Amino acid sequence: MADALREHLVAFFEQHHKLVEAGALQLLLTNHQPLLLSRDLVEQPGDGSPFVTVEMVERALATRTPRAPLAPVELRPGARPSDARVDVPFALIHEGFAGPPVGADALAAYSSLFQSRYRALSRMLRGRPELGNLRPIATIRPGDGPASVIGLVREVRATSKRHHLILTLDDESGSIEALVPHDSSAAAVSFLPDEVVGVRLQFGREPSKLPRVEAVERPEVPSSRTVHRSAGRRRAIFLSDLHIGSRSFLADAWGHLVDFLRGNGPLPEVAAEVDHVVVAGDLVDGIGIYPNQERDLAIADVVEQYAELGRRLGELPERLTIVVVPGNHDAVCPAEPQPALPAALRASFPANVHSLANPSTFALHGVVVEAYHGRSFDDLIPAIPGAAYARPTDVMKRMLAMRHLAPSYGDRTPLAPLPRDGLVIDPAPDILVTGHVHTYGADRYRGVLLLNASTWQSETEYQRMRNITPVPAHAAVVDLSTLDLVSLDFSGGDPVRVGTAA
Ligand SMILES: [Fe+2]
Ligand SMILES: [Fe+2]
Repeated sequence: MADALREHLVAFFEQHHKLVEAGALQLLLTNHQPLLLSRDLVEQPGDGSPFVTVEMVERALATRTPRAPLAPVELRPGARPSDARVDVPFALIHEGFAGPPVGADALAAYSSLFQSRYRALSRMLRGRPELGNLRPIATIRPGDGPASVIGLVREVRATSKRHHLILTLDDESGSIEALVPHDSSAAAVSFLPDEVVGVRLQFGREPSKLPRVEAVERPEVPSSRTVHRSAGRRRAIFLSDLHIGSRSFLADAWGHLVDFLRGNGPLPEVAAEVDHVVVAGDLVDGIGIYPNQERDLAIADVVEQYAELGRRLGELPERLTIVVVPGNHDAVCPAEPQPALPAALRASFPANVHSLANPSTFALHGVVVEAYHGRSFDDLIPAIPGAAYARPTDVMKRMLAMRHLAPSYGDRTPLAPLPRDGLVIDPAPDILVTGHVHTYGADRYRGVLLLNASTWQSETEYQRMRNITPVPAHAAVVDLSTLDLVSLDFSGGDPVRVGTAA
């Protein structure tokens, strides 16, 4: 029944040319009048947004006044989500940064951040058959038999003899410790602090012993979901880490990219179909980002760096829609989610640039893209067994499984204490693009195209010290009607197609 209703609601919104976020859908399904509420949402006066977000449902719930029952919502028989397409060139779904924290109490602000995360991710886990007898942690009693809980991972530690792991999970009702036996399937899971997981627990005969973790579920990208494609053949090109102002900015390679996009080079037929450029952060090199950076700078003034960025973006054809998000080198607060660049720094940008927060989710001809710079690679790569800077897309798969871009608090990625956790991945995108590690990678995961979008900076002394070998001047050109990918290397002059796993 719930599945049928879910499909009906998705189809209903599609008929009204709207895409509904997974979290928003879940919230609607938990309401006792989901159809009426959905109709309220499509009838919002003056709402031209092609998306239905959690915030919109929450607003509709808050403002809904009881009224006489309406005739049932009409559903086109047999309507499939893919029948209708939302095909506008650019539509913002949401920015990760949703305004400064309310109130001055940092502890309360972080507590509402984690509450927001827990609520958003637990909604994705509820109702799974693998999580039978799902209960609030405070109500778990050893004598009750098998039960499941959804919790934020507070701690993972080894038992005194180091054979097994002890997992501590928190939910809004309390916290629980559970044993992960070394020979269980759950032992293969690498838990990260502050990610949200669902676990099935089994109790032994002795009530004093810890429950055992029998199975672990992550929020994940659902195996069946609406995928979005543009109606006609349009392309988007994905770049990252321009580092304008650095001595090692690859001006020649950038020139080749400009020539390509203007159609003055090989593959003009590909270039002519490009409508969008997405840049995933580290737009400029910044100042004071690492020790002795001034030695590496060609432009020592950050305002001048952004002026030069505006000039470089102005070299690209005016017909393109350019979307940029900041990274850790940009002149905004480094805590994530990061706000968009302030107006003063955007002053010289051409009119076709959308400057958004990091991360941000938007649709290009209906194809949902999430752009995140990727500072959290510095935390996730050391924490995930087998992960490496050379293979960032492996880590991106884990981000999608967690439905979170940077879960762990207190590591190298500073987290902003905002009332809504803007690092939760919702909706599941069609394309996830990151940068930061200065390599190039493309892969697919459960139908999502993963891109780590290279850099336009050659190797710096700092990277040599940290043993990072960059793969610069690469670009991913994606056909939005199929999500087929052409990978191009501009480092040698004309674009060269390069093979990739995706
Ligand atoms: Fe960078
Ligand atoms: Fe970066």
